[in-house]
Amino acid sequence: MISAEKIPNNVNLSSNKRLQRALEHWQPKYIQWWRDMGPQGFQDHHQVYVRTAVSVDPEGWAHFEYVKLPEYRWGIFLADPVHDRRIGFGDFFGQPVWQEVPGEFRNQLRRLIVTQGDTEPASVEQQRLLGQRCPSLYDLRNLFQVNVEEGRHLWAMVYLLHSYFGRDGRDEAEELLERQSGNRDKPRILQAFNEPIDNWLDFFMFTMFTDRDGKSQLMSLSESSLDPLARTTRFMLTEEAHHMFVGETGVARILERTCQLMKEAGYSGDVRKLGGIDLPMIQKHLNQWFSLSLDLHGSEVSSNAASYFANGLKGRAKEDTFGEHVVKDAVYNMEFFEGGKAVTKDILMRNAMNEVLRDWYVGDCAAGVERWNRILESYGFSERLRLPDRKFNRGIGMYAGFHFDPNGVPLSDEMWERRKYEWLPSAADTEYLLSIMATPVFEPGKFANYIAPPRRGINQQPIDFEYVRTEQ
Ligand SMILES: [Fe+2]
Ligand SMILES: [Fe+2]
Repeated sequence: MISAEKIPNNVNLSSNKRLQRALEHWQPKYIQWWRDMGPQGFQDHHQVYVRTAVSVDPEGWAHFEYVKLPEYRWGIFLADPVHDRRIGFGDFFGQPVWQEVPGEFRNQLRRLIVTQGDTEPASVEQQRLLGQRCPSLYDLRNLFQVNVEEGRHLWAMVYLLHSYFGRDGRDEAEELLERQSGNRDKPRILQAFNEPIDNWLDFFMFTMFTDRDGKSQLMSLSESSLDPLARTTRFMLTEEAHHMFVGETGVARILERTCQLMKEAGYSGDVRKLGGIDLPMIQKHLNQWFSLSLDLHGSEVSSNAASYFANGLKGRAKEDTFGEHVVKDAVYNMEFFEGGKAVTKDILMRNAMNEVLRDWYVGDCAAGVERWNRILESYGFSERLRLPDRKFNRGIGMYAGFHFDPNGVPLSDEMWERRKYEWLPSAADTEYLLSIMATPVFEPGKFANYIAPPRRGINQQPIDFEYVRTEQ
């Protein structure tokens, strides 16, 4: 039996017996999933200093305390309603938003919510072995913070499924716990969420690039005409910011340490001999997670995306910054790859909505890479990290099935096979990373050799704070 108090919420759970019963039925399965598929080796004997969402008040929405991970208080929060909110785009522009799911859009909305929901537990599964290779207690705590919040995001989507989709919704909620990242028979829905994340460079690149895809998807869903979906995803964005902070600063700290080691090794010296992570290795992982995350935005030309937009289900990121919101006749000048060369053509903007969102995403990523490059600059190095061309290493959309180098130059299959590990991590690269991460660092204030300490601690605690405590 769960009481409403055990599930922090602002949806008045205690007065909704039907919903409370549905969640009561789902919760033990969730906890079992967390124990089986969540962080391995950190379930019962560790206390983790994490934040828990307790309200949506911007001044004090979270509080910090030590908890054992399976006892985390996963809650349900929707951003405050906006008075007289109106549909902001598409064919129903200007009409009042919906508090219930319209029958004609039920399937599309359920699909959107399930696809979003599926990514949340998937990332926890992908990251479940990382704790045993952590570079510090500070990083270990950040990993678990991200993990418990992805768990909460699953709760957020399950809340919507249980509240608005009846029996189908309950079935979908069960299946969200049954699919498994990387499982051959029951994989997660989207490919980037089936790739292993077994080292910390992958983890930081994932939280930089793939959580940022989460940000673009949540931004477009937070424009939705279905008000509970808009309010749920708006609050999720508050938490998402920290995930991208973990990724961006994680890579920045590796880069900083790499620069120090490059100085130490002498200009043409080998950073790996000093146990560091060389720049080409960092670039390869950037290439990998950026290209996988581009795929998550879907096909360039998409009638689904057009219909999501027309029906008001999924808008553009920051819809209110666009001049025109119905977008009936507007066109998008898109590059196509035909007969081995690039040609541009105008297509209806509504059909290009995935690409419009991808444009926003690429810009947001590019700004982050610029910030990383300032570190290289400050150490006086001329090397720079960069985003590969959008056509590079794509598995979805019009470039899937072709090969390009990171500059966007087409390559034959044979050339790609011969050269791909110049641009993507090879088995030997992964083996090296695992070798320098084999011994976890559990001593407060100590950091693995390949990463610099952060500038400051979490929640104004010192860097050598005991972010994760082991029980004797
Ligand atoms: Fe999430
Ligand atoms: Fe996230």
